[in-house]
Amino acid sequence: MIMRVARLMTVIALIYVGACSPTKELVQTPYQELYRPQYHFTPAINWTNDPNGLVYYEGEYHLFYQYNPFSSTWGHMSWGHAVSKDLLHWEHLPIALHEYLDPRTNDSTMVFSGTVVIDKNNTSGLCSGKECMVAIYTSHVHSRGHTVVQHQSLAYSNDKGRTWTRYDKNPILDMELKDFRDPKVFWYEPEQKWVMALVVPDQFVVRFYESKNLTSWTQTGEFGKKGDIRKIWECPDLYEVPVEGNPNQKKWVLSLSCSHPQGLSFVGMQYFVGSFDGQTFQPDESEVKTRYVDYGKDFYAGIVYNNFKTESGNPVMIGWANNWAYGASIPTEPWRSAMSIPRELSLRDTQDGMQLVQKPLLATGTLKGEVLSGNIEGNNLWLEVEIEAGKSEDSGIRILKGGIGETVIGYRNSKQAVYLDRTRSGFVSFHPDFASEESAVIEPVDGKIKLEILVDESIVEVFVNGGLRTISDQVFPSEADLRAEIFGEGVSVKGWKMKSAWVKDGN
Ligand code: FRU
Repeated sequence: MIMRVARLMTVIALIYVGACSPTKELVQTPYQELYRPQYHFTPAINWTNDPNGLVYYEGEYHLFYQYNPFSSTWGHMSWGHAVSKDLLHWEHLPIALHEYLDPRTNDSTMVFSGTVVIDKNNTSGLCSGKECMVAIYTSHVHSRGHTVVQHQSLAYSNDKGRTWTRYDKNPILDMELKDFRDPKVFWYEPEQKWVMALVVPDQFVVRFYESKNLTSWTQTGEFGKKGDIRKIWECPDLYEVPVEGNPNQKKWVLSLSCSHPQGLSFVGMQYFVGSFDGQTFQPDESEVKTRYVDYGKDFYAGIVYNNFKTESGNPVMIGWANNWAYGASIPTEPWRSAMSIPRELSLRDTQDGMQLVQKPLLATGTLKGEVLSGNIEGNNLWLEVEIEAGKSEDSGIRILKGGIGETVIGYRNSKQAVYLDRTRSGFVSFHPDFASEESAVIEPVDGKIKLEILVDESIVEVFVNGGLRTISDQVFPSEADLRAEIFGEGVSVKGWKMKSAWVKDGN
């Protein structure tokens, strides 16, 4: 408890220091405040939402992110920036792209979500040397609280992303639409050209464009009005994914953000599996099934890295670990919102068709510390749980368990579903929609359900049966000295304490 009070005092001091200045983003906080994730990315202070411009370049993984330099709620959207050599330990850099005034109209322009590419052959003519980094983002022009237009703009960097210059002929793509955003751009090798996928959110449509130089774009196709169309679409991405056990077989996956499988008031992500011919995306299934990326409430706006695949050719995705429904109310200070653990993507050929499989990035395992046998205690854990299906109607593990609160992860045999119940997880009353139970239907394999559970203070990510289902949820435990305990018949657990990626010599 004393520890918690000390943490709180540090937090209060930092809020005071950081309150009035946008330049304080490089403020070093202790990264030990109450609820501060220890191996997930969080900005030092203030609000973040979508990951942006994920790209690997010259030994560095870049993470740009939607960022409010002034406060811990959404607004003044800019691109925050961090770099890492392993996707786990991050170094904060100054804001890459700030909100600005449109030079023609003087209207305020926020820098919404987008991409960074490496322009390897200086196709844009903007590189001072042979190559440079180019950012393509949505310029969100607004006046007196109203959106004027969303168009796409470009900025470039000749010093590995440390400083950025906005292109003087922006915008590069303007359809005079109020909702037209989140460009994902990548190099399409077969035709030696750039491809852009972006959404018309309220029409449930992804549009595809092509370009030889990143500055002039022509539409080539469109896909939409399929799958989950209950809420607007945002943040599309299109990438090739190898099939498990057959790495030479690859399929194109189109993923995007939409509503949540369990209710219209929440956001989530879905994906389609198919082919891309350089012009448009074609799903494999003639009757398209709605397939969700994650069944938790806290995985949104996920995109994959450009210019990087794992050794076995898998793309790596990072998502925003929060939900628009209650995101602005989560009880963390002086920052708000985290990124998910980076996930390696593959496809599994199942009886129910090709399905996305997600695994925590292999390197995350390097943060495994002490092996826990007997008592499993702590807030930063990696747990491997095996459940023999059918031994009990309800079996699993209670984590972050104190005298009163607990988060329950289990398998209900009659429903054939894994669930995460955070209704008693601690502090839940900060928003009426937060207390919830999430579940995902999944069949046992050889009579077993296998869970990999990453617990990091206020984020829990559950990977089921090698990543065929995931459930990612935030929780805010309100007690100290928390532990984990299995329940039901036929359950076994292996555990590790996770080391901190933020606190030197942290445990
Ligand atoms: C998704 C989103 C994007 C937009 C950004 C603004 O969470 O709404 O569509 O570009 O956030 O911050």
